[in-house]
Amino acid sequence: MSLSEQHAADLSAETVVVAAGRPPRERDMPVNPPLVLSSTYFGTGSLDTGDRGYGRYSNPTWDPFEEALARLEGAELPGLLYSSGLAAVSSALSLIPAGGALVMPTHSYSGTLVMASELAQKGFVELRAVDIADTAAVKAALAPGGPGARPAAMLWLESPTNPMLGIADVAALTEAAHAAGAIVVTDNTFSTPLVQQPLALGSDVVLHSVTKYLAGHSDVVLGALVTSNPDIRSALLHNRTIHGGIAGPFEAWLAAGPADARAPGGTVTAVRNDPRGAAQQPPPGRVHPVPGAAR
Ligand SMILES: Cc1ncc(COP(=O)(O)O)c(C=O)c1O
Repeated sequence: MSLSEQHAADLSAETVVVAAGRPPRERDMPVNPPLVLSSTYFGTGSLDTGDRGYGRYSNPTWDPFEEALARLEGAELPGLLYSSGLAAVSSALSLIPAGGALVMPTHSYSGTLVMASELAQKGFVELRAVDIADTAAVKAALAPGGPGARPAAMLWLESPTNPMLGIADVAALTEAAHAAGAIVVTDNTFSTPLVQQPLALGSDVVLHSVTKYLAGHSDVVLGALVTSNPDIRSALLHNRTIHGGIAGPFEAWLAAGPADARAPGGTVTAVRNDPRGAAQQPPPGRVHPVPGAAR
């Protein structure tokens, strides 16, 4: 364990935001992660030996953010950074097998809905749109009765939804989805991991439009996924590598930088100071994001 890992072991979430992914606290190491601008890396010539190889496979500048996000979301594996939230949405939707049913909030973020609708129109998925605050209706859509009705392959949660601020019962719906054989992706953009940790509530994958609260300064467009499941992470990493929705190193460096990384902490402090945000998880009903903290 490096000095920085030892130092970070027992820190609060607000401090992890600033400390995780930093270079080792050793003589002459920089305090901030360096920005690495290189498309290609020297190596052994075999990616099987763990070579970085090429800039579409990985970049050291992504590592601090991916490590910090995993720690904040309570994941056992590093996160995956993408060029935008919608690139992350596209990668997550690629987990659905051909023709599989997707249960998704009627009021999901508009771009997510457009993408899912287009996949449905082309026959790649069967889309079942539901009121995500209606737990019984979502359960019925996951495992419908009747002849020919198939259980869902994926439950998509977004809680609170953008912009209607619908709140899902993440734990109950995740349990129902798993019972139906579906995997669960939760878009945690509006909560941030400092308010809600969907992996701890059973979700398989957590998604962020990093563009919003996680970056916090309206200066980058980025997305991220995080999971503790090695098979799911491998599939997502393969999809990111082959479809090419990778983060630019400069944007990744900005998002992981100390000034930006404090923004989620500031957000959560403000949410906790608001009686509506006092609980660990947003209470049922309307929860308002903190004005000015993100767009
Ligand atoms: C909840 C949510 N998910 C996903 C996205 C898409 O993210 P991006 O704009 O970074 O592609 C947004 C963007 O507003 C969002 O609000």
